[in-house]
Amino acid sequence: MASTHDIIIDTDPGQDDAIAILLALASTELNVLGITAVAGNVPLELTHSNIRKVCELAGSPDIKVYAGADKPMKRTLFTAEYVHGETGLNGAQLPEPTMPLQEQHAVDFIIETILSRPDQSVTLCTLGPLTNIGLALAKAPEIAPRLKNIVIMGGGLFEGGNVTPTAEFNIYVDPDAAKLVFDAGIPIVVMPLDVTHKALTTTARIDAFRSLGTKVGKAVAEWLDFFERFDEEKYGTDGGPLHDPNVIAYLLKPELYAGRHINVVIETQSDLTVGTTVADYWHVTDRAKNAVWITDVDDDAFYQLILERLEVFK
Ligand code: RIB
Ligand code: CA
Repeated sequence: MASTHDIIIDTDPGQDDAIAILLALASTELNVLGITAVAGNVPLELTHSNIRKVCELAGSPDIKVYAGADKPMKRTLFTAEYVHGETGLNGAQLPEPTMPLQEQHAVDFIIETILSRPDQSVTLCTLGPLTNIGLALAKAPEIAPRLKNIVIMGGGLFEGGNVTPTAEFNIYVDPDAAKLVFDAGIPIVVMPLDVTHKALTTTARIDAFRSLGTKVGKAVAEWLDFFERFDEEKYGTDGGPLHDPNVIAYLLKPELYAGRHINVVIETQSDLTVGTTVADYWHVTDRAKNAVWITDVDDDAFYQLILERLEVFK
């Protein structure tokens, strides 16, 4: 029996976030306790709307969706319409959501859920800036030892950054929140650009999604056709990296991934390198190891997993 996971998804959709949410909702191994919106790729009022659009596309209007932080803990919000488009889900046309947004603030939902459930039973899956998690830790530091683990899409070492030469978007937007998370003693798995850049949205892979012949398959193909153009031009590759679904795929099939336990510290002060994940991959310091840093993925199996799971949506 595949292991099951009780998860909270914290996200800033974004086309790649949307595919990660679909993968989670299609997978019976995952019990989605709630989905929390954070400002990131686009402002908060769009991210919480986009989450609900995706839930309704998946036929899951009962999923509880919460609005969280509309700006980073200390810095000014930096958004990425230049990659994801004005709505954050450019490429596919989806109807405005009709399912409700929960009244409770996302940060309070995260705290309440962790404290009300058995020790080490909840996994946080973060697909955007870590603002909601940072705020939750600041408000209720007692959640840290209660968490099972946190799987984070963010950071980069061998691939550098994608917003500055050294900083990846999710960490760059809120480095102060990221520092709180990486310093909290929570078991962390990081999906950095080092691994997501090995999972490219090639034409054949996008066509396979389109060939599903379903609303979901069509939306996924249209999102990727739009989303990949920026990185294809930047990196000169057939397709762009598919980031966020790696977080969910790791929970479903960890055997597809390889990495090592290392120390990761977040730069929050330097104007030149703020938001950099200073990953001690070669253990040249004596800083305590605090994160599993993933560098490799079986990319064919990763895309096959997504394709197979999305078939559940008729
Ligand atoms: O750097 C990639 C990350 O930033 C992904 O999570 C993408 O959705 C954006 O949020
Ligand atoms: Ca994201």
